[in-house]
Amino acid sequence: MLHKLLTLITHIIETFSYKRCSLMSALNGKSSRIQGFHKLSHEEKVKIIRDFSNLTDDDIVLLEKWGMMESRVAETMIENVISAMSYPYAIAPNFRINGRDYLVPMVIEEPSVVAAASNAARLMREGEGIISFSGEQIMIGQVHLTGVANPEYKALEVLEKRKEIIEIANSTDQTLASLGGGAKDVEVRVLNTEKGKVLTVHLIVNVLDAMGANAVNTMCERVAPLLEELTGGRAVLRILSNLADRRLVRVRGQVKAEALGGREIAEKIELASAIAFADPYRAATHNKGIMNGVIAVALATGQDHRAIEAGAHAYASRTGRYLPLSRWDMTPEGDLVGTLEMPLAVGTVGGTVRVHPMAKLSLKILGVNSAKELAEVMGAVGLAQNLAALRALVSEGIQRGHMKLHAKSLAVMAGATYEEAEKLAELMEKEGNFSYKRAKDLLENMRKEKLH
Ligand code: MEV
Repeated sequence: MLHKLLTLITHIIETFSYKRCSLMSALNGKSSRIQGFHKLSHEEKVKIIRDFSNLTDDDIVLLEKWGMMESRVAETMIENVISAMSYPYAIAPNFRINGRDYLVPMVIEEPSVVAAASNAARLMREGEGIISFSGEQIMIGQVHLTGVANPEYKALEVLEKRKEIIEIANSTDQTLASLGGGAKDVEVRVLNTEKGKVLTVHLIVNVLDAMGANAVNTMCERVAPLLEELTGGRAVLRILSNLADRRLVRVRGQVKAEALGGREIAEKIELASAIAFADPYRAATHNKGIMNGVIAVALATGQDHRAIEAGAHAYASRTGRYLPLSRWDMTPEGDLVGTLEMPLAVGTVGGTVRVHPMAKLSLKILGVNSAKELAEVMGAVGLAQNLAALRALVSEGIQRGHMKLHAKSLAVMAGATYEEAEKLAELMEKEGNFSYKRAKDLLENMRKEKLH
């Protein structure tokens, strides 16, 4: 009885808060702070996103198709297509980044990630919110030349032809150049490989709003003959580098100790960060938490997530030691401040972004207008995700929240219908036993009880 009463009161408070938030949104534009978003019905959630991101009826139809992809779209993207596979598509509310509110689409198979991101975004939206900055979208193209006699000497001759090399590179993509992007500079390095010296020429390219792989790879292939001619060597590799260390996003955010659950938790998060700096085994897991957020947004927006992963981990190892991409420190006032720095090569034009309807819709929901802004949002989600993971780890541990959601999948695996799964998951949670065997036994009991 008491439980029912409490549930009713909570519902009334939440409905009121939701209405107040909707009102706020109508009054001052767009607030992504939505209390109890996860508890709203599907229709209510869609309505909020529709209003927030000005979605059309067609957009809603697409959302309601649950990501089913037309065969012709799939066939435009890759070879040997026989079907398409769907992943859950979720929205993380509450993000305030660079003074703007965002609803963030995330695609991921792991329970708890979206809830954790939304929670941390709520904690970090106070004050100025999350501040995220990405500069010019610079990629590096590489041409590796082998068989060069006197490579150090030839390297200087290559630099002297810098202007001509840049011109040839830019002749491959006049649109990019006319928009202010394109090849901007040439750099040289001599590598000592186990097969002898290799002269490496870097093309420094501003790719603007593209991820840039196609543009840069084409440029590398086009300038290679001239480089061979200049050096007398042979171009063995002509491709971009995924260590996009001129395309960094830098994020900062802070959170009050009370919001985290007290000074002790804040101190433990600071300690967890220090441990990650001292231990590559921990740093890998710390960074995995960041990538949970970054890659979920990358998937929702149709990015080359392998490139992002490769870049992130190469950057984490840039000192010769694998380090965390973020750090957390206490302020003199006892609050927690976090920073994150990582490369993010993403695009809002070209590639999958243009072809995949759901990727396009994700960009619309986000309301981002450039690759720079998308990178800033993704970096912010990475930092928030990291905070959420550390907070859970140093307090209750991550398994409780994790298993709660996992229980539903376990129930379905044990043979429950989707209707039974809800009840079964509740029973497992009450017992704190999340084994497959227990799910099966409970399901059997549940069915028996129903018969009697
Ligand atoms: C799990 O997907 C991610 C975490 O392991 C991250 C971390 O340990 O910081 C919880």
